[in-house]
Amino acid sequence: MAISQLTEEAVLEALRPVKDPELQRGMLELKMIRDVTVSGPEVIDLTVVLTTPACPLKNRIHEDIDRALAVLPGSPKARIRWDAQVSRTGGIPNKQQIPGVRNVISVGAGKGGVGKSTCAVNVAIALSQLGARTGIIDADVYGPNVPILLGAEHERPMADQNQKIIPVLRHGVKLISIGFFIEPDKPVIWRGPMLGGAVRQFMFDVNWGELDYLVVDLPPGTGDVQLSMSQSIPMTGAVVVSTPQDVSTADVGKAIQMFNTLKVPNLGLIENMSYHVCPHCGERTEIFGHGGARALAQRMAIPFLGEIPLDQRIREGGGPGVPLMVSDPQSPLAQVYRDVASHLAAQVSIRNFKQASFIPLRTI
Ligand SMILES: Nc1ncnc2c1ncn2[C@@H]1O[C@H](COP(=O)(O)OP(=O)(O)O)[C@@H](O)[C@H]1O
Ligand SMILES: [Mg+2]
Repeated sequence: MAISQLTEEAVLEALRPVKDPELQRGMLELKMIRDVTVSGPEVIDLTVVLTTPACPLKNRIHEDIDRALAVLPGSPKARIRWDAQVSRTGGIPNKQQIPGVRNVISVGAGKGGVGKSTCAVNVAIALSQLGARTGIIDADVYGPNVPILLGAEHERPMADQNQKIIPVLRHGVKLISIGFFIEPDKPVIWRGPMLGGAVRQFMFDVNWGELDYLVVDLPPGTGDVQLSMSQSIPMTGAVVVSTPQDVSTADVGKAIQMFNTLKVPNLGLIENMSYHVCPHCGERTEIFGHGGARALAQRMAIPFLGEIPLDQRIREGGGPGVPLMVSDPQSPLAQVYRDVASHLAAQVSIRNFKQASFIPLRTI
């Protein structure tokens, strides 16, 4: 076929039916496909702007685009430049937005000890490694252990010239912990107003800069503390972490229900300590039975984000203060966290898209 037949108009026409697999709307219409150039008889250069750098569906999108282009003379292939602009949660009624912060994701659990902080930390690092600007607030008043997990327990954040607190930077993630502001070994009794004040200070008096995702490690459970905190945070949505044993109790259901009651979107459920893979023989053992969380998520009509195995390497990471995502990012275990992070980021994009306030991405 003659090259002259391949016009930019014809290419755009061929690309028009290509939909974002999750948002189910035309990618051209959403301005997610841009800069389309016919670079040769068989090469179309274009940019795909995703709503998260952690997009799990790049291969699928590439295939869909090539399939759409196959109707053109010479069946040209796309040469894609990937880019991302994380969407922002639109106005949440009665909640002030945190300047510069596009999405706030809370991590809750029915009870303590299920690995909530370990999940929050590794998922936050995964998001950062995938290219998203990420922060974490450790708001677990009962046991603020995120600084220990990130090797920042001796840090005391400073204020900038505008009297805003400068977060501590660890492994690419900006961190503020309630633990930075209380004396170790001194029990603190948090009352509602004091707590609300502390959490507000974490969000609004901190110089976060520009963040795509701010992960909040909430205290476990569904008491007054959790309720008042969840009410004071302008959340995009919440993630709940559970273990297989924990699913059989009512705790996880209550945590999911709490967010429903507060009209906080449930972004998904994670099953932690789901199964064990023997480090010697590779045999997989389902110590507590697994799959319960997936079934529960289905029953409660919320997304299921993944199963994280029980593994000593997760507990130990690369030693104190070095989580697995940092010490062994190429391992299959790290891939499990990356998959969870990608699913989560996709859920955030879907939530933001569903909001009436969604506007197609800006063309710069
Ligand atoms: N998938 C896992 N495999 C092995 N140990 C884990 C896993 N997840 C968490 N742990 C360990 O379990 C303990 C509790 O985890 P943590 O994240 O502090 O729980 P929580 O924040 O829910 O109280 C920690 O010692 C942690 O290292
Ligand atoms: Mg914790």
